[in-house]
Amino acid sequence: MEIIRVEGGHAIGGTVHVSGAKNSALKLMAATILAPGKTTLQNVPNISDVHVMGKVLKGIGATIEVVDEHTLDIDTTNVDSWEAPYELVAKMRASTAVMGPLLGRFGRAKIAMPGGCNLGARKIDMHILGLEALGVEFDTAHGYINAQAPNGLTGTTVTLEFASVGATENLIMAAVRATGTTIIDNAAREPEIVDLANMLNEMGAKIVGAGTPVVQIEGVEELHPVTHRVIGDRIEAGTFIVAGALMGNEDGVTVTGFSPIHLGMVLKKLELMGIECERVEDGVRVHRAERIKPVDIQTLPFPGFPTDMQAQVMVLSALADGSSVITENIFENRFMFASELVRMGADIRIESHHAMIHGVDGFSGAQVTSPDLRGGAALVVAGLVADAVTEVSAIHHIKRGYERFVEKLQGLGAHVEHATVPDPVED
Ligand code: UD1
Repeated sequence: MEIIRVEGGHAIGGTVHVSGAKNSALKLMAATILAPGKTTLQNVPNISDVHVMGKVLKGIGATIEVVDEHTLDIDTTNVDSWEAPYELVAKMRASTAVMGPLLGRFGRAKIAMPGGCNLGARKIDMHILGLEALGVEFDTAHGYINAQAPNGLTGTTVTLEFASVGATENLIMAAVRATGTTIIDNAAREPEIVDLANMLNEMGAKIVGAGTPVVQIEGVEELHPVTHRVIGDRIEAGTFIVAGALMGNEDGVTVTGFSPIHLGMVLKKLELMGIECERVEDGVRVHRAERIKPVDIQTLPFPGFPTDMQAQVMVLSALADGSSVITENIFENRFMFASELVRMGADIRIESHHAMIHGVDGFSGAQVTSPDLRGGAALVVAGLVADAVTEVSAIHHIKRGYERFVEKLQGLGAHVEHATVPDPVED
C-alpha cells in the first residue's frame, strides 16, 4: 500500500508553481468533442482525473497525442460513439461533462448514471431539467441515461435552482450548437466556467456573460478546433498557501501560476486569520503566521468561499487562538476529513453542516486516511506542522487532482516522501 509519510516541524520556503486547473482541464477536454479536428490543450495537469477523461474520449473514438507532459492534441474528427461507460463514470463523476458536448454535436448521449459518492448524493437533476428545456428527451435503463434530441436543440431560458458548476457547463456546451438563443439564469460563476466559455468562443461560439449569473448563448452551426491554455489551479494554489501559512520560513512560500483574483475570498479569510498574503506577479507570497486568529467561514458558490478549500482552512482554524465555525453549504458529507484531523489532536465537533473548531496548541503525527481529494491533501499539510511522523493512506484520492504533490512539497524543503507499507490484514 502506497502512503505519504510526513515528518512534521520543518520550515518550508521557496517558490512552487501550480499546474493547470483540474476542474477546467476536464471540461475543456470534453468540449473538444464540439469541434471536429485537432484541438491542442496546453497547461493540462498530469493527474489521474485527466487520464480518466482521456479514456472517456478515446472510448468514443477520439485520438489523443501527448505532445509533452502538459500538452495534449485531441482529435475528435472520428468520434462515432456516444457512451460514457460505467467503469469510467464511477471512477470520476466529471465524466458526465461529455453529455452536453455529445448532445451539441450529435443530438444524443448515453451516460452511466453517477452513483452516490463520498461527498453525498451529488445528483444531476439540474443538468437533466436544463437539457430537457432545450429539447432533449431522457430515459433511463440498466443504470444508463439515454439522451436524445429528436428535433435538435432549441434555445430557451433555463433558470437553475442552484448555481451548479456542472449543470452550467453541460448546458453551455449543449447550447452552443442549439438553434436560437439560450439564457442560463442563476448560472455558476466559477473561473473554470469562464475558461470554458473563452475556449468555446475561440472555437466560434457566441457566449456572453460567463462569470456572471446570466449567461447568454447564441447557437452556431459549427465550431472549429483551436489551441488553448488551461488556467492555473486556484485550489492547488490555496493548498500551498495554507502550507506556507503554517510552516513558511522568513523568506516565505511563493505560489505562482494562477490568478489571485480567483482566490479572492480565500485570501480575504486568511488575512482575517492574521496571515499576510502578498500579491506578487502571477501569484501570492505567504509567511508563517505568528498567531492564527479564529474565523467563521461558510462555503458558497464562487465568488464565495470554495468548498474545495474548506478542509485546508480547517487545518489552520484548528490551530487558531480561539473558536471558529465552518459551515459547509455545497456538499453533504464533506466533514469526514474532520474526524481524521481529530485523530491528530484537533478539537472539532460536527453538528449537521457546521463544524465547531476549538484551536489547540499543536497536532500530533498519526496514521490517517484520505477521505477524499482535498481532505487528503489537507492531511498532508497538517502533517507538516505536527510533531513526529504522519502517515496518510488512500493517496489515490490526492493523485486525482494534485500533480507531483509530494515532489512539489519536497521542492519547498518539506520532509515528505512516498512510502510503501504492507496492506492492512483483511478479515
Ligand atoms: C464542481 C467541481 C468541484 C467543486 C464543485 C463546487 C469539477 C470536476 N468539480 O463539482 O470540485 O467542489 O463544483 O464548486 O468541476 N447538485 C444537484 N443537482 C444537480 C447538480 C448539482 O443537486 O443537478 C448539487 C450537488 O449535489 C452539490 C451542489 O449542487 O451538492 C453543487 O454541485 P455542483 O456545483 O454541480 O458541483 P460539481 O459540478 O459536481
